[in-house]
Amino acid sequence: KIGEVADEVPVNAFAVGGFVRDLLLKKRNLDLDIVVEGNGIEFAKHLAGRLGGRYRTHERFSTAMVLMPDGFKIDIATARLEYYEYPAALPTVELSSIKLDLYRRDFTINAMAVQLNPQQFGTLIDFFNCQNDLKQKEIKVLHNLSFVEDPSRIFRAIRFEKRMSFTMAPHTARLIRNAVKMQLFGKAADTRFFSEIRLIFSEENPIPAIQRMADFNLFQFLWPDLKPHLKVDRRFLHILLQAQRAIDWYRLLYLKEECDNWIVYLLAIMGRSKAEVLEAFCKRFLVPQKITDNLVWQKMHADKVANLLARRNALRNSEIYWLLQDLDIEGLLYVMAIARKSTVKKAVSNYVTEMRQAATLISGRDLMALGYEPGPAFKIMLNDLLDARLDGIVTSKSEEITFIQE
Ligand code: CTP
Repeated sequence: KIGEVADEVPVNAFAVGGFVRDLLLKKRNLDLDIVVEGNGIEFAKHLAGRLGGRYRTHERFSTAMVLMPDGFKIDIATARLEYYEYPAALPTVELSSIKLDLYRRDFTINAMAVQLNPQQFGTLIDFFNCQNDLKQKEIKVLHNLSFVEDPSRIFRAIRFEKRMSFTMAPHTARLIRNAVKMQLFGKAADTRFFSEIRLIFSEENPIPAIQRMADFNLFQFLWPDLKPHLKVDRRFLHILLQAQRAIDWYRLLYLKEECDNWIVYLLAIMGRSKAEVLEAFCKRFLVPQKITDNLVWQKMHADKVANLLARRNALRNSEIYWLLQDLDIEGLLYVMAIARKSTVKKAVSNYVTEMRQAATLISGRDLMALGYEPGPAFKIMLNDLLDARLDGIVTSKSEEITFIQE
């Protein structure tokens, strides 16, 4: 259908990038990136109309996004026709724009396209022998300036290498080392860095990628404040592994609430630092204020709670409940990751699996039925009752009523 719409407009439309890579690897990829030779915006409008989806356009960049009712997302970009003006009488030369578009991409494995127009439907477009690199499982840039143009690609190289168990071509690895030496990250005023760091930490297992980042000396740039322990030493690795264990443990509980794993890893990396270090990191990488505030708050609160839990033995369930109740799931898993005592881990795991869902059986309405006047005292009574439930003092509704009346 997409191809038919392309013919109608008419434009040449191609599926590109990660979609094609994953198609050839027979892996699922839920995002479709399309590049159009011609008017991409016009194409997006037609496509949305035909597929019953909504669209959003970015006229300035000639890009658009079509969102299908089932949540499937199609990103559309326009391959600009580039004209090379020759001096004097020579004619202007038009470069095949899809070729140029692919040449500007990050790695060869992401630089293939599949034509979508019906007549040529399914034709693989591979100008740079990319298929061979995919077969050889190699991450390779298309040209020497790739990391200069976009240093955030360094993180992408690492992410793809570790995710798919590929290897970096030696020349590409050399270009990364050069880019690091040249301090290309000097000015981090680019939101792409944080997006890529976040994507690395969201991978199924980010630890090998984090170690690879250390290999490439990227820590000095990412976390200059971690100076004394700049490398992935044993303790550092231990915290990361504990974070991973906590995340895996949580995943197997199959609870409804989703966990943003990247937050747990980021907090874990900062496990031995003060909250200010995390804050400085967020500033440097232009992390949106709301996310920064939440990260910093979770860290400060979690560190405090972790300390308290470690210092005090034999806490009652109700005490643990009130200590932990303001933390998000990410902050809770972070406490599990940094805790050295098994009693602390146990307290948190207990809280996540049991206490967090605890509620009193009677409600404010029941209190009114018992003849109590509504008001601030209600909250206190219900909280006391919750404590009694958590500590096993009351276990049924009738016991709750007796507890209140006493
Ligand atoms: N791309 C690029 N340089 C970047 C980011 C992206 O050249 N810094 C190109 C790549 O060709 C990539 C495409 O844009 O394939 C889409 O980017 P993105 O959706 O971020 O990556 P995917 O390759 O789809 O990877 P993922 O599987 O992680 O979604």
